[in-house]
Amino acid sequence: MIYTDPSARLLALHTTHTSYWMGVDETGRLLHLYYGPLRETPPAWPEPYFDPGGRPDRLPQEWPCPGLGDNHAPFFAPEWADGAIAAEMRFAGVKTRAGKYALPGLPAFRIGEDPGAETLRITLKDGRGLTLTLLYGVLPGCDVITRAAVLENTGEEPVTLRGMPSAVLDFARSAHPALDFITFDGAWAAERTPCRAPVRPGVQAVGSVGGIPTHAHNPFVMLCTPDAGEDRGECWGAALVYSGNYRMQAESTPAGVRLSVGIEPFRFAWTLAPGGRFIAPEAAFVYSGAGFGPMSRCFHRAIRRHLLPARWADMAAPRPVLLNSWEACYFDFDEAKLLRLAAAAKAAGCDLFVLDDGWFKGRNDDTSSLGDWVADPAKLPEGIDGLCRKVNGLGLAFGLWVEPEAVNPDSDLYRAHPDWALQIPGRETLALRHQYTLDFSRADVREGVWRQLTALLDSCPVAYVKWDMNRTLANVYSAALPAARQGEVYHRYVLGVYELQQRLTDRYPDLLVENCAGGGARFDCGMLYYSPQIWTSDNTDALDRLMIQYGTSFCYPPCVMGAHYSTVPNHTTHRTASVEARMAAALAGTFGFELDLTAYTAAEIEALHPFVQFYRDHGALVRGGELYRLAAPDGQGAAWAIAAADGSEAVVFAVGAPLDGRRLPLPFADPARRYAVHALYTGSAPQPPAAPLPGETLLEQGLPLPALSGTLPGYVAWLQSQEG
Ligand code: DGJ
Repeated sequence: MIYTDPSARLLALHTTHTSYWMGVDETGRLLHLYYGPLRETPPAWPEPYFDPGGRPDRLPQEWPCPGLGDNHAPFFAPEWADGAIAAEMRFAGVKTRAGKYALPGLPAFRIGEDPGAETLRITLKDGRGLTLTLLYGVLPGCDVITRAAVLENTGEEPVTLRGMPSAVLDFARSAHPALDFITFDGAWAAERTPCRAPVRPGVQAVGSVGGIPTHAHNPFVMLCTPDAGEDRGECWGAALVYSGNYRMQAESTPAGVRLSVGIEPFRFAWTLAPGGRFIAPEAAFVYSGAGFGPMSRCFHRAIRRHLLPARWADMAAPRPVLLNSWEACYFDFDEAKLLRLAAAAKAAGCDLFVLDDGWFKGRNDDTSSLGDWVADPAKLPEGIDGLCRKVNGLGLAFGLWVEPEAVNPDSDLYRAHPDWALQIPGRETLALRHQYTLDFSRADVREGVWRQLTALLDSCPVAYVKWDMNRTLANVYSAALPAARQGEVYHRYVLGVYELQQRLTDRYPDLLVENCAGGGARFDCGMLYYSPQIWTSDNTDALDRLMIQYGTSFCYPPCVMGAHYSTVPNHTTHRTASVEARMAAALAGTFGFELDLTAYTAAEIEALHPFVQFYRDHGALVRGGELYRLAAPDGQGAAWAIAAADGSEAVVFAVGAPLDGRRLPLPFADPARRYAVHALYTGSAPQPPAAPLPGETLLEQGLPLPALSGTLPGYVAWLQSQEG
């Protein structure tokens, strides 16, 4: 619910459990007053307010401006024609409406069916000619508040934006004397490990200047009280709905902590002619007064219901069980080998066969051919359509890997259009993984790629596309823009990717798109608007996946995490893990296989059936249920569960010998029910308890785990409740 007092001096956004209050002071500044548990009475005005004229840098503000005394690290930076960088955005009006705003050309949480969704539009003006519309979206059922900002040049001179955040959130020192900052960091094959540290004086930031979020950091961060944990303490999560250069910054000053999120200002410059406007990407916030678990479940619900393409939202449609050819074949295959693999996938119970990299003209390793999206006749004499027909004939849907943003210098596309690649005149273009990046800021380049993609997808019934992106951007310069507008290229590139993915999903509404960037280098809320699943990491090792998927789950729900069962020793880590451990990691995401099943005997394939059946039986629960992180990964194991919102059923996963014989308290268990435990075993593990267990026992003493021994053992179970 949105509240505005009659004089529009006080404004409040209420979700089911949280409130966000703002106030307009007598000078017209929009102050941030409160973000915390639901409160229907106005909070106190901030202390420095008693000195409103003198200390603008001590005021908690919704849109801090540079140049006139707010001396926090600047983010918003409008540069006027005379070179001054300054603004004084003062309140000019407010409007509310039912339903949530959308952002043209940018992904944003959708209006969806959340009955109470509302929008608050606050207008701020600078006298020299800027009008800023701050958009606030309220998704009450998910306890999510979104923000976005639209800046319009309403003056008569051009203005160059040298920095434009999406949202700023101030935490007054008096209310929050100490806060921790949590970021999600890593590297290739080790994405999104939580990293927590007290906010130090000064600026701490994560972000990217690589054109994509990269493996190193994620556009999701948290602030929390020092006592906060999985089920206790206060925390605030901030997710940016954006897939390019970004900055998530916490700055500590004597006044408190300022969290700023948005497009990274480095190499960003956007000139607004009179009448022009710029839309900053959306940011989404959740507050929880009961720790990280409830916060994550709010983000999960909002992403599942209101961000994913409607076709795949929440429990709308089952995701196919797939086999991906990458770890089975890499570049080494022909049609006969693929068909043998597809037949084995069918025997294992898969729905979809995905042909990964290596299928197009001359592509036998990673040095050539990206950009030439036609089948290699040497490997696929009957083309992609021929292979697709044969795979369909086996009773499987067909999916294909592409990397539309990339081009190898050794390709027909590059030979025909060398200027289509991002490159700085007079400098050598950096090839990473032997490839350049196409200039997706250019409409003609996108059109060329579009023609190739549609020719491919129109030629046969492709049910799934894996859209990969295997490098960061460099040599960022567009031949199509004048010198003064080169600061627009990074952002225009991202808009170009969004435009093409939107066209793809519009034209092929049933197509399942899985995004990927060398594993999880572009795993963000922006990409999830177009594709309901993203390949989480190139690392399929069960032990490493515990940490990768755990860290990922702070913002993103299990149903968006590409997770595949792979062979041992693992191709990345050379480690071994039990079938159950590998299955636990894969079954908690978008389940699939990534291994050479042609090497399996019929009996070995049959042993996989119970797991596939488990996914069929409980996939809807995995997609639409609530995640509980029961034991955080400690390098040796972890446990988690996904439960129905009403506590009526759950799937429970545990991995690692340290959990041997332990009891796992289940916070979602309903004391009014009894639960039968159906565990999946491949080996000689003990039998599950014969009698159903009372909910109270599960809640307080916990679920007794069987003996878990051997090399990385695992446990997968379904808990089915009965009344009383
Ligand atoms: C990186 C991806 O993450 C892998 O799964 C695979 O598709 C390769 N690219 C193919 O080049």
